[in-house]
Order: sequence, then C-alpha cells, then structure tokens
Amino acid sequence: VDLTPEQRIGKQIYMRGFAASGGQMSAVLDEKGSAVSASILPCGGCHGRDGRGRREGAVSPSDITWDALTNPYDIKHEGGRKHPPYSNELLRRAIVMGIDPAGNPLQATMPRYKFEAADLANLIAYLHVLGTENDPGVGDAELRLGVVLPSGSGLMEMRAAIRGVLEAFERDVNDGGGIFERRLSIRFIEPPQPVSQRLTAIREFLGREEVFALIASAVAGAEEQVAALLAEHETPLIGAFALYPHTAPPLNRYVFYLLPGIADQGRALADFAAIRMTRRPVRAALITGPDDKLSSAAATLIEDHCHHLGWTVCERIPLDSPTPIVSRLEGKNVVFVLATGVTKRVFSEARALPQDLLYLVPGSLADFESSALSPELRNRVFLSYPALPSDSTPEGFTRYRHLFERSPAPRGHLAAQWTALTSAYLLMEALKRAGRDVTRERVIEVLESLYEFKTGLLPPATFGPNRRIGSFGVHIVSAADPVSYRWMEPK
Ligand code: HEC
Repeated sequence: VDLTPEQRIGKQIYMRGFAASGGQMSAVLDEKGSAVSASILPCGGCHGRDGRGRREGAVSPSDITWDALTNPYDIKHEGGRKHPPYSNELLRRAIVMGIDPAGNPLQATMPRYKFEAADLANLIAYLHVLGTENDPGVGDAELRLGVVLPSGSGLMEMRAAIRGVLEAFERDVNDGGGIFERRLSIRFIEPPQPVSQRLTAIREFLGREEVFALIASAVAGAEEQVAALLAEHETPLIGAFALYPHTAPPLNRYVFYLLPGIADQGRALADFAAIRMTRRPVRAALITGPDDKLSSAAATLIEDHCHHLGWTVCERIPLDSPTPIVSRLEGKNVVFVLATGVTKRVFSEARALPQDLLYLVPGSLADFESSALSPELRNRVFLSYPALPSDSTPEGFTRYRHLFERSPAPRGHLAAQWTALTSAYLLMEALKRAGRDVTRERVIEVLESLYEFKTGLLPPATFGPNRRIGSFGVHIVSAADPVSYRWMEPK
C-alpha cells in the first residue's frame, strides 16, 4: 500500500512519537506518573512495527491492527483482550483516556497520551493501515538483504571469498527469475574493527540500506551489542558468526546462529572425555585466555558441565597466572585449551607433563600444526569442529562448485564460503515458505519450524521458538588423523 501524506505523518508518530510538524506529544505511564515526551514511549515500542504486539514479561500489548480492533471476536485474535469493535472516536478515547469500547479501563501499562487534534487524526489514519505495509527491504520488484563482512586487515581474502560466492548466488537466483518476482539485491558492509566504530557503522548501514534481513554476518567480538541493535531494528540475522553466540535468556528472536560456539563445543569435548575415561576419576583443568566477559562465561558453562559429569577436579587456570602452567597441570588427566595462541606454548612444555594427559581443543582456537607434534602426543590431542567438508552432500557440493566457478572469489576459504551460502540457502527456504506477502515475523516463524533442514554443505539445521543454534553437534577429530573420529551431540 502507498501511504497518504496524513498516514505518513501518523506512521512517524506511531514509530517514533514525533512529528515533523513539531506538535506537542506527551504520555503518562501510570496514574500517578508524570508526563514524558511521547518519543520515550512510541506506540511501536510496545505494539511492534506491525501492530501485532509482542509480549514482554508480564506486559502483553494488544494486537492493534485495524482488523483486530474492528473484528475483535474474529477467531484469529483469540487470546487477546475482548472488547466491542472500535471506531475512530472510540479509538481516540482509548489513546487519550485509556478506556475501551465497553467502557472498561485499559491496564496502566498502556500509557495515556496527549496529542494535538491533527496529530491524533493522522495517527488514527495510520492505524487503519498498520500492519498491511511491506516490511523494510521488500519492494514490488526487489528484496534487499545485507551482509556484515568480517573486519580486520588480515581478512581481506576471506571477505573477497564470502562476497564473491554470495554475489554469484545473487546472480544465480536472479537469472532464475528471482524470488516471487522480486530480484534479490545484496548489500555489503565492511565495518571498521574497533567495536564502538563497528556498531556505529552497522547502525548507519541498517538505517541507510533498509535491508529486510542480514545474512552471513560476522558478529564476533560484539555478539551482544549487535544482537541488541538487531532487536531494536527488528531485523533478523540468519547466519551470525561468533565464537560466543549470544543465546542467554531472554532469547533474542532476531539472531539465528548456524553452529555452536566455544561453550557448547567444550561441553561436547567433555562428554567425549567422559566416554574415554569411564574407569578413572577425572581431574580436569581449563586453560583460559585474558579474562573477558564472553570467554569467561563460556568457561563457566564448561565447568558446570564437568561438575555435572561428576568429575573430581575442575580447575580453571588463567593463562596469565603467575605460576607456570606446567606445574599447575600436575595430577590432571584432562586439559581444555580455551584460548587462542596457547596450544603451541602448552605443547612446548608438554614433555614435562603427565604422559596420560588428554588435550581437548575447540578447533577454532587451535594454533598448531599436528605434524609438529610428536606421534605420541598427537594421539592424545582432540579437536572439535562443528562442520567438516565431509558434511557436504554430492548435490550440495555440485551446487557450490557451480557458484564458485561463476565467481572470481579467491580459493581456500571453504568454511567461510559454505557457512555464508548456508545462511543464504536457509533464508531462501524461509522466503519460499513465507510466500509473496513476506514479513520479517513470518520469516522468523518459518525458520523456527525448520527441523533437520539439509542445505547440503553443513550439518542439518533445526531451529525452534527457544532454539537459535541450527546444529549443536561437533566432530571430534584426533590430531593424529584429520578425519572425523566421532560425532558428539549434547543431550
Ligand atoms: C508501554 C507500552 C505501550 C505503549 C508505548 C503503547 N501501548 Fe497501547 N497497549 C499497551 C498494553 C499493555 C495494552 C493492553 C492493555 C490491557 O490489556 O488493558 C495496550 C492496549 C492498547 C489499545 C487497546 C486495544 C484493546 O485490546 O482494547 C489500543 C487501541 C492501544 N493500546 C493503542 C496504542 C497507541 C495508538 C499507542 C501510541 C500512541 C500505544 N498504544 C502505546 C501497551 C502500550
């Protein structure tokens, strides 16, 4: 739908509590509260961009799409508040005085507003069409997506590899007629590395490009902040890449990760060690890096799991501890290496260490060449990989090769390209199932219904209302032999 000029002003009031005309707008949150600017309590903040209302804690803002307001007994809206149909006049009364059509007061969590008459009329004109507009990034002939490439001067080739294969994907989809007659248009951003600058750049990018969703985006190092930014913009991200996926409650509905982070990998490695050591008491050590919040939270989860497994000792050894690591590993029989740039150092001291010590290392933190280890040591080092080339199916690989051949991307970044493409495939599947009248909410719902969905490149993906990591399992790989030794999936 095209908005009338009045509705356009009304939309601004709805979304931002503000109108260019400069009319005064204020809101009172509870009976005794004082008036604040309506820009602090815009309608959209509680009722959502689409007006359907998102429950948050004990507060459940009503569905205030026109359909719901005027057909309150419609079966679709079952579960919402019950009230006779609204008219413009009754709606005005609800917004200003907090009284519904039956004359009942609305809860105090619904603010009472003061608007100038013209602004209130514009707002109500907009409420007539609220929720029937397209989401950002969805045009008649185009669907816009965004990609946040990894930052850092050392990753130039990897960026080119990701970009190249996604551009080939975009061409491929568009040559095949697009998606529901819309061309796919992928916008890329290479943000600067420092976290605060990166966030500003991503915020500007979301504002400027108005993308429907992000795919295949690097969030490592700013997991929490990016997740919060996306929730604020109601922008889904399919394929967030991070060592420490931000999945702690409350769940961020917008961010979908494909693979497990360090915490889940560590737990799978612990389960693996528990199988190997059934007959001995386990005394474990966790070597952790410079103390930052995310890696420390991951270490705590792994520790909890070790206690849950009934291990005798589970001791954390910070890398910067004053005593040499070797002396602190005495008497241990399992060691987790949970920091980068450590394995080499530990192995160089390993000769002095117990001969039965089992080393467990998430693959993404490993910094050594297996060939540099003694054959004896190699047999005691195990790495976890959430995905291996052997996870691909012949069809998946053929499809990848077809795209790769059409792109000038540099070679040698298979993992980055496969995760990027998997993100794109997942979103395409969700778009197909959502149909032409696609919304972000619908895409999230569809993704939440995917069960063991095979993309042909990575292990199958499952999401759900409370699940945001597509595949939890890891391959355990022995340093002595680079093929998958065992597939471990946390229970
Ligand atoms: C702080 C959160 C919040 C904000 C901001 C807010 N609302 Fe509400 N609104 C609610 C809640 C919660 C309810 C449900 C109240 C109840 O169940 O009694 C509600 C109910 C309503 C209803 C009544 C629907 C029904 O079921 O009878 C209307 C209409 C409404 N809001 C419109 C608006 C408009 C227009 C704005 C902006 C000018 C707005 N609201 C801003 C939280 C909010």
